[in-house]
Amino acid sequence: MDRLVVRGKKKLSGGVTISGAKNAAVAVIPAAIMANDVCITDNLPCIEDVKCLYTTLNKMGVECTYLDKHTLKIDSSKSVNTTVTFDEVRKMRASYYLLGALLARFKRAKVAMPGGCNFGTRPIDLHLKGFRALGAEVEVEGEIVCINAQKLKGAGIYMDTVSVGATINIMLAATMAEGVTTIENAAKEPHIVDVANFLNMMGAKIKGAGTDVIKIIGVEHLHGAEYTIIPDQIEAGTYMIAAAITGGRVTVNNIIPKHMESLSAKLTEIGILIDEGDDFITVDAVDRDFKATSIRTMAYPGFPTDLQPQIAALLSICKGTSMLTENVWEKRYQYIDELKRLGAKITVEGRVAIIEGVRELTGAFVEATDLRAGAAMIIAALSASGETVIGEVKYIDRGYEEVEKKFSALGADIQRVSV
Ligand code: UD1
Repeated sequence: MDRLVVRGKKKLSGGVTISGAKNAAVAVIPAAIMANDVCITDNLPCIEDVKCLYTTLNKMGVECTYLDKHTLKIDSSKSVNTTVTFDEVRKMRASYYLLGALLARFKRAKVAMPGGCNFGTRPIDLHLKGFRALGAEVEVEGEIVCINAQKLKGAGIYMDTVSVGATINIMLAATMAEGVTTIENAAKEPHIVDVANFLNMMGAKIKGAGTDVIKIIGVEHLHGAEYTIIPDQIEAGTYMIAAAITGGRVTVNNIIPKHMESLSAKLTEIGILIDEGDDFITVDAVDRDFKATSIRTMAYPGFPTDLQPQIAALLSICKGTSMLTENVWEKRYQYIDELKRLGAKITVEGRVAIIEGVRELTGAFVEATDLRAGAAMIIAALSASGETVIGEVKYIDRGYEEVEKKFSALGADIQRVSV
């Protein structure tokens, strides 16, 4: 079991290079098995969720090989097992993409229900409703989702709630359905565009990804492709907020600044200087006063829920009272008790966290209650006086590549210890 030990009050400075997007990678890898061929995906983040998919695919009979730390060769030309009930898949949320990918190519799938971060009910009813609309029969037998279809037929699908996972999963299945599928009220997150681009390189006909109407003209076969994953919007945001809270000056490289607009706008409101280039953003918080603000999480292009815990850490030392509203996940405030251990003054009323800025946070023992909560603990610890020990680092490792190395390179005093 690993812990991170952080001694705070060091201003971060220099540059950090952002890895490939976790949430794109965990969809692109399953999508690769839709071709009876070889796909190569690079710029994959070297994180636990990707390693978990690598193990799962190999267990399914797909020849999945690391060409280097960030590149996978995925050969699905031999027989592929469409029953996926191994322990690995239960650990991660994104295992649900195996349903859409297997259904598209083999018209059947049996996959264990997804795991992942526990912040409230995480239903997959919209995914299953979409598969049914395409003509599949779906049964949930205990923990296993079983799907069968004679054939899939394109349909008009309206999403009752904007869902990233359901949009991608229906897009995967519809890619190899007969005729045209239209997904309305689709999610617009950058990784939806990334998955659509990858599928189109494999021979799919998808238009409109990144808008709220996606049109998919079904094709019979997909072929292999080589694809580079986009940079991780949430990892980038995490380093931007970390730079800010320490009063430092950091350039976050290898990013798409447009993906960061909602965060850049809020950091500017707080009083931090943001300088955007083509593929970098410099965050300059040296000698700046931080003012409280209000933030509401929303689907893209709104403020991402996956940056909500990290920004809460920053708001906890902004002067005045900030209001943070979580609109996506009902239980995403479990980490607040941990922030309070560091001296943050926060009251939660339903979906709203009222954060009264304090002058400084103080080191303590805290736990990463989930992936992004863990990132928030690092951010808070970087600004706290004294030493903070962060437990349950396994959550952080699910989504951040070499987290302590990247922070150390920016001047943070952070060490991993095994207990
Ligand atoms: C993805 C991200 C996750 C992020 C979330 C919201 C991945 C692997 N994970 O999760 O990091 O926090 O988007 O940006 O990409 N919902 C339903 N029924 C469904 C599906 C979702 O009611 O079938 C609801 C959820 O309860 C939630 C909302 O829709 O309130 C959004 O969830 P969704 O966008 O589907 O999240 P994920 O794709 O699971």
